[in-house]
Amino acid sequence: VTAPDLAGRHVVVSAGGTREPLDPVRYLGNRSSGKQGYALAKAAAARGARVTLIEANTGLPDPAGVDLVRVGTAVQLREAVVKAAADADAVVMAAAVADFRPAAYASGKIKKTDDGGAPTIELVRNPDILAEISADRALPGQVVVGFAAETDDVLANGRVKLRRKGCDLLVVNEVGERKTFGSEENEAVVLAADGTETPVPYGPKEALAETVWDLVVPRLRGASG
Ligand code: C5P
Repeated sequence: VTAPDLAGRHVVVSAGGTREPLDPVRYLGNRSSGKQGYALAKAAAARGARVTLIEANTGLPDPAGVDLVRVGTAVQLREAVVKAAADADAVVMAAAVADFRPAAYASGKIKKTDDGGAPTIELVRNPDILAEISADRALPGQVVVGFAAETDDVLANGRVKLRRKGCDLLVVNEVGERKTFGSEENEAVVLAADGTETPVPYGPKEALAETVWDLVVPRLRGASG
C-alpha cells in the first residue's frame, strides 16, 4: 500500500518533448518518449496528490486521475507550466524542452530549389522554463525538480546545472542505449541543492519516480521531519 504522503498537495509534472514547427509539415523535435514524466504523474496520484500533467507530443494514453494539459511547443509549455505552478507545492520538469526554435515559421512548405542550394534555418532561444520557475517561485517553499540528460561527465555537468538552474533537485541521467530516451528503464543520480546525492540503480522508470517523490516529500512546505 502506498502512503498518501502527497495528499492535499498539488503537483505539476511536464512530460514528453516539445516540437518547434518550421513549416506546416516539419518540426525540430527530440527523442523524449514522455514515459518518465507519466510515471512521475501516476506515482504522485497514487500517493494522493492532485496532479497536473502537462504533456508535449507523447502519444501516450491518458492516465487516470490526473488533469491533463496538452501542448506542442516550448512557448506553449512555458505558459501551461507557469499557469499550473501558481498554486503548486511542487513542479517537476521531466519534459525535454527545445532550447531553440526557428526564428520564422513558413506558412507554406519549404521547397527544394533547382539550383541545388539548401535553406539556412535561423534559430532563436526558447525560454528556460526550469530556470524561470526556480527563480520566481510562485509560492514560498515550492519545490522545483529538473532533469538533465547528459552524455559526458554526467555528474560534474549535473552539479553545475543544478546551480545554474536554481532548482532544488536535479535528476541526472546518462543518455545510453538501454536507458533514458524511449526506454522503459532509467538509471540516475538525484542531486539536491543541499549537497546530498542519491544514486538510483538501473531499473524501471516507476522506481525512479518513487525515489523522486521520496526526496520531494520531506522538502515540501510544512513537511515534518
Ligand atoms: O539545460 P537542459 O536542457 O539540459 O536542462 C534540462 C532541464 O531543464 C529539464 O528539466 C527541462 O525540462 C528543463 N528545460 C526547460 N526549458 C528549456 C530547456 C530545458 O525548462 N528551455
